[in-house]
Amino acid sequence: MKEIFRIAIDGPSGAGKSTIAKGVASELRIDYIDTGAMYRAVGYKMKQRGIGVDDRDALLRMLEETTIDFVKGDIILDGQVVNDKIRTSEISKMASACSALPEVRSKLVDIQREMGTRKSVIMDGRDIGTNVLKDAEYKFFLTASAEERASRRHKELLEKGETISFEEVLADIKQRDYNDTNRKLNPLRKAEDAIELDTTGLTIEEVTANVLKEIR
Ligand code: DC
Repeated sequence: MKEIFRIAIDGPSGAGKSTIAKGVASELRIDYIDTGAMYRAVGYKMKQRGIGVDDRDALLRMLEETTIDFVKGDIILDGQVVNDKIRTSEISKMASACSALPEVRSKLVDIQREMGTRKSVIMDGRDIGTNVLKDAEYKFFLTASAEERASRRHKELLEKGETISFEEVLADIKQRDYNDTNRKLNPLRKAEDAIELDTTGLTIEEVTANVLKEIR
């Protein structure tokens, strides 16, 4: 294994990317970078400031004074831990909307590439293997049926105390799949050299083992 190597994990919402990436990161003792959390953090700040997706000037000004980092697994937005604040269904929608904006993507992709040059990382998102870390040593594309992904997300949201129906979560997932795969800029798609893993019906341990088997 090279001294510094990068692992890219892409796939649609709820395919299990972050759970698997965290497990692989701790097994290999490398850093995990959750790029979805970065889009969520930007969406969260836009919401807080009342900045809409059409207000490009205000958005640019906001981005100029925004810092995002990861410290020991926590996402830090402008010096504050925002882990829980960005995991609501409302912020999921904001993240999906703001991730289509070129100003937002260009700022976040720059930060992500910089993070990927310093040390070995596993990074998950939608455009990691196709754009952010095109030359990553290992690339995976995780999928699962929309129903299974919605059921996982629904469980997570209920555990957090949100009142939302399964049908609503399924409709949200389908809408986000549509937004993420149809946007003009770096849409979600499998890199030609990525290994595709369908996680439907598999346990976290099984998927993690499959990923590790390809790396070791
Ligand atoms: O993985 P997630 O659900 O936390 O991501 C939130 C949103 O951010 C999702 O709708 C797609 C977008 N995203 C993106 O466009 N590119 C990435 N690399 C990661 C996430």
